[in-house]
Amino acid sequence: MELKICLIGKGTVGTSFLELLKRKKEIIKERYNCECKLLAIFERDGALINEDGLILDELLNDSIDFRENKFWKKNLKAKDLISKLNLDVCIDATPTNPNTGEPALTHIIEALNNKIDVISSNKAPFFLEYKRIKELANDNKCFIRYEATVASCIPALSIKENLIGNKITQIKAILNGTSNYILSRMTSENIPFEIALKEAQELGYAEANPNLDVGGFDAAGKLVILANELLGWTKTIKDAKIEGITKITPNAIKLAKLDGYVVKHLAIAENDNLIVEPRMIKKGSPLNISGTLNIIELQTQYAGPVILIGKGAGGFEAGSAILNDLIYIIKERKKIGSN
Ligand SMILES: NC(=O)c1ccc[n+]([C@@H]2O[C@H](COP(=O)([O-])OP(=O)(O)OC[C@H]3O[C@@H](n4cnc5c(N)ncnc54)[C@H](OP(=O)(O)O)[C@@H]3O)[C@@H](O)[C@H]2O)c1
Repeated sequence: MELKICLIGKGTVGTSFLELLKRKKEIIKERYNCECKLLAIFERDGALINEDGLILDELLNDSIDFRENKFWKKNLKAKDLISKLNLDVCIDATPTNPNTGEPALTHIIEALNNKIDVISSNKAPFFLEYKRIKELANDNKCFIRYEATVASCIPALSIKENLIGNKITQIKAILNGTSNYILSRMTSENIPFEIALKEAQELGYAEANPNLDVGGFDAAGKLVILANELLGWTKTIKDAKIEGITKITPNAIKLAKLDGYVVKHLAIAENDNLIVEPRMIKKGSPLNISGTLNIIELQTQYAGPVILIGKGAGGFEAGSAILNDLIYIIKERKKIGSN
């Protein structure tokens, strides 16, 4: 089997995915009898296209700018070419626009309308237009996978396949490493929010504009996707009640501590509600994790809590989730082919 793929967005995640694909290409070929052929890489300002397949080694050489490659052409746009290339899978790793979902939303819709499977690490289309995308994928009999959108390499969405004999009834999670780092430092050092934020920015854990993280919007977007996927909801970010961590004072944290509690920025899906807000939890709770880690506690009907914990961000973490999705698609396509 041959799988013709394109990547849109060769940034941190896209490049890490290509590196992992390079490392695992031969194993995929041996184990699944599948040759992954990279036909195109789209960037904001142009694209590399070779219908015979791009050579990964040439593109991942740090000392040579990929725009120097002989297949590079300026001003080509993914949205115009997705339908023209003979693609099987379109992978989107473009930046998140939380208001419009673009450019990923257009790429996803264009691919599905042309019966091309989709993998995305970009969460915005899914917390804005989940129902529309899922219906389109269904109507066109396409696979659509987006594991990297929630907590990167933690199998937050694919856990559903492993709990198929059970029922997930509630989600409690910490889905933003930046906020959790800031709260952890405010708790351990008794410092105000502004100082902890500055420290997080200096260490590269927080963006220059941290509002999406500390305001709770990033966690809420991930919670929407989790709840839709694991609880079968069809909500959007407009349905979420969101409160950030900016108003938490060292005094509030100190008083909580005296009673054996810590303040955490929780993302909760229960009783048809989506909530992201600071909550007090017992010091000994499994949700009391420190630093930039993410945690997802799933309440199940027949087995109590199931807990996933790990790094929620990072190029290779997200890149490996994309590769998992690609291997999932290869396996499913093989099943269909062998029927
Ligand atoms: N980094 C992580 O840890 C992580 C983890 C999980 C999920 N994600 C998600 O994965 C996506 C990519 O993240 P990233 O960290 O790799 O971001 P990034 O480093 O900014 O990479 C995004 C790339 O997409 C390019 N791009 C922008 N608009 C484009 C367009 N219209 N067509 C083609 N390419 C375009 C950008 O080019 P320019 O540089 O010219 O703008 C850039 O090279 C985001 O949605 C992010 O939220 C990231």
